[in-house]
Amino acid sequence: MRQAVAYHLDPARGAGALTAAPQEMPVPGPRQVVIRVRAASLNRRDLMLVDGTYPLPATPGVVPLSDGVGEVIAVGDDVTRAAVGDRVTATYFVRWVDGPQRRSHVVEQYGATHPGMLATYAVLEEDSVVHVPGHLTDPEAATLTCAGVVAWAALSTPSPVRPGETVLTVGSGSVALFGVQHAKMHGARIISITSSDRKAERLRALGADEVIDRSRTPDWESAVLDRTGGDGVDHVLDAVGMPTLAKSVRSGAYNGRITMIGAMPATDPPAGNPFGASYLSIRRIAVGSRTDFEAMNRAIAVHRMRPVIDRVFAFEDAEAAYRYLRTGDPFGKVVIEIP
Ligand SMILES: NC(=O)c1ccc[n+]([C@@H]2O[C@H](COP(=O)([O-])OP(=O)(O)OC[C@H]3O[C@@H](n4cnc5c(N)ncnc54)[C@H](OP(=O)(O)O)[C@@H]3O)[C@@H](O)[C@H]2O)c1
Repeated sequence: MRQAVAYHLDPARGAGALTAAPQEMPVPGPRQVVIRVRAASLNRRDLMLVDGTYPLPATPGVVPLSDGVGEVIAVGDDVTRAAVGDRVTATYFVRWVDGPQRRSHVVEQYGATHPGMLATYAVLEEDSVVHVPGHLTDPEAATLTCAGVVAWAALSTPSPVRPGETVLTVGSGSVALFGVQHAKMHGARIISITSSDRKAERLRALGADEVIDRSRTPDWESAVLDRTGGDGVDHVLDAVGMPTLAKSVRSGAYNGRITMIGAMPATDPPAGNPFGASYLSIRRIAVGSRTDFEAMNRAIAVHRMRPVIDRVFAFEDAEAAYRYLRTGDPFGKVVIEIP
């Protein structure tokens, strides 16, 4: 076997710098498991952690990345939820299993305050372990934790999208792509907003019933109203944030629901009143619980859904993967394979 290695976020080397260091095989404590990581993937949040713009600062030297998959190679005392040989991932929040999200849940995150997945080995708290759908490859299974679960939670909680309802996805980052795939599994009619013919074609192939190109139709909210007979959509999955909030509100039905997923600076208040006469609801969510993750995995397994991957990088090219997510305009997840 090759030398075990873990990457560490190293602020001393400037933004984007990762330092690779040899890694000993960890010994699991009680109710912990150790996995041999096979693949990990990046989220926009991982760039924010590097840049210092994420609401939760990274612990200096932390092993980055919340999303990854591996094989359980050791279990600590009292572990009952996983066994050696299982193929597993972990929840984004180390301790949010179910029920309402609390502040205490969000301050403990893999790849930020707890060592994450960009390493040969990762130590997972037993309660955070999630088994992955068997039909997925390792790179595919390594994409689910953050973008997959937040899109699932947006469309399935607190009440699920019903067949025949209309879902609008805004943006074509990974959250929106999972949103299209999940909305399809819920039997919804899907309208997607994007910025080019190339992406429009790929969104249609993924399941979008209609795509509006915002570069040609800057007032896309009017086009959404036209395509819904003036009614607006039942659900908006806004994976952008403040720049699209008002348009998302105008696209929504009188009693519609908007889930705001895009990062929103805490200091950035909404401009004006976009609501007009509507009584639609907006909620903000941060990923989802383990229960949400497990429900999503059951649906993915039944539908044999496959996440969209844009590019897979080698472990030694981890910094290039970060650069590619920042500047490459990927359509789908950026994954790192771990040999
Ligand atoms: N709350 C959570 O739990 C959670 C979880 C994951 C991610 N996030 C956040 O969700 C956001 C999306 O992340 P992501 O990884 O899916 O995507 P991303 O890589 O940040 O891409 C966002 C996409 O949005 C579109 N876009 C950008 N500016 C726009 C504008 N002004 N109007 C309309 N569309 C615009 C672009 O797609 P087109 O070129 O197709 O238009 C772009 O590719 C980020 O802010 C991320 O931090 C939040």
